[in-house]
Amino acid sequence: MSKRDSVPTRLFSPYDMQGMTLKNRVVMAPMTRSRATPDGVPKPIVATYYGQRAGAGLIIAEGTNISPQGQGFPNTPGIFADTHVAAWRNVVEGVHAADSRFFLQLWHVGRIAHPDSMQPGCHPLAPSAVAFERDVMTPSGLQPAPTPRAMTVDDIAQTIEDYANAARRALEAGCDGVEIHAANGYLPAQFLHETSNFRADAYGGSLHNRMRFVIEVVEACVAAIGAERVGIRFTPFGGFNGCSSADEGALYRALLGDLSRFALAYVHIVGANIAGNKTKQGADAANIPDVAALIRPLWPHTLIVGGDYDAGRAEAVLDDPGADLVAFGRDFIANPDLVERMAKGLSLAARDPDSWYGDGAAGYIDFPPYGERMW
Ligand SMILES: Cc1cc2nc3c(=O)[nH]c(=O)nc-3n(C[C@H](O)[C@H](O)[C@H](O)COP(=O)(O)O)c2cc1C
Repeated sequence: MSKRDSVPTRLFSPYDMQGMTLKNRVVMAPMTRSRATPDGVPKPIVATYYGQRAGAGLIIAEGTNISPQGQGFPNTPGIFADTHVAAWRNVVEGVHAADSRFFLQLWHVGRIAHPDSMQPGCHPLAPSAVAFERDVMTPSGLQPAPTPRAMTVDDIAQTIEDYANAARRALEAGCDGVEIHAANGYLPAQFLHETSNFRADAYGGSLHNRMRFVIEVVEACVAAIGAERVGIRFTPFGGFNGCSSADEGALYRALLGDLSRFALAYVHIVGANIAGNKTKQGADAANIPDVAALIRPLWPHTLIVGGDYDAGRAEAVLDDPGADLVAFGRDFIANPDLVERMAKGLSLAARDPDSWYGDGAAGYIDFPPYGERMW
């Protein structure tokens, strides 16, 4: 058996993330599961779900709305009301009891929204009044994305403040930190990219102007809760939700260069072989750039990589060392004991995409650990 095929060891060794000890280098990737009430309160089963998966050294919880204006998907949680804080506190307590760390992913969807999925009176905001070219999810199914309203400078300032307040609220709930969701074509990515940002002011045009919103969100969150509590996620060359740029390599080089003045908890990147929640196929999968090779030399602090990893590939990337921590998404859904299965070389339960965005316990907290049945 070659070293690459053998049961990994580095993956299960502890890691010091800016002074925070992680019991292993396995990260649970953020995944929207739509198990909150319509006003964004995580249901009690959310605590069970994350508690079951606390074998991970670090859990990054699902995209969580920073404000009513930031919401785009039905039954997704929030972190801007007292009721949200109380419910998340219950989740975090269970995760901490199992000696895992918990970061909340801060989400503003920008133009990937429909008024039917938002609070009454809200309309999608985005860098520019340019609609996403495809359908978006609503409570009554898919509908064409409406044209968003272009954000004013006051809207931008308010939104940055909303990120900082959400970060404070997350810490109030006991979270170890927050991850700014700048991936997958949502609001921060909409500012970064040429296909969604046509502004003529300080937030658009040149590459440095397109970076400005993301940098200001990072600065505000760092000022609110400290750099070692703030991570950020990017999907370079991902193209998901209609966000891409001709100068994408230069854009991320400049962005990471600027961000490296902050000793953030981590930067988290997903390989370009992934589009949102799927592995790219066919023509989309050809000529995929090596995102980890692009970012690693640019980022002197903790780097998390994700996207289609298994235990063997994770060990290889940690060995290189192309990364410090590895995120696993889809396999964590049907394998609450994923860490133990990988550590022991046990087989994994199959993925069941039909239950990913349901609203109850089925397909959520009823996956048994290896060798047991729960029903
Ligand atoms: C059901 C589901 C929901 C997801 N929701 C989010 C999300 O809220 N935020 C995010 O950054 N990525 C989200 N993703 C992407 C995952 O974090 C991850 O990048 C992707 O699944 C690829 O990793 P994997 O191959 O280990 O599954 C989601 C993926 C799935 C399958």
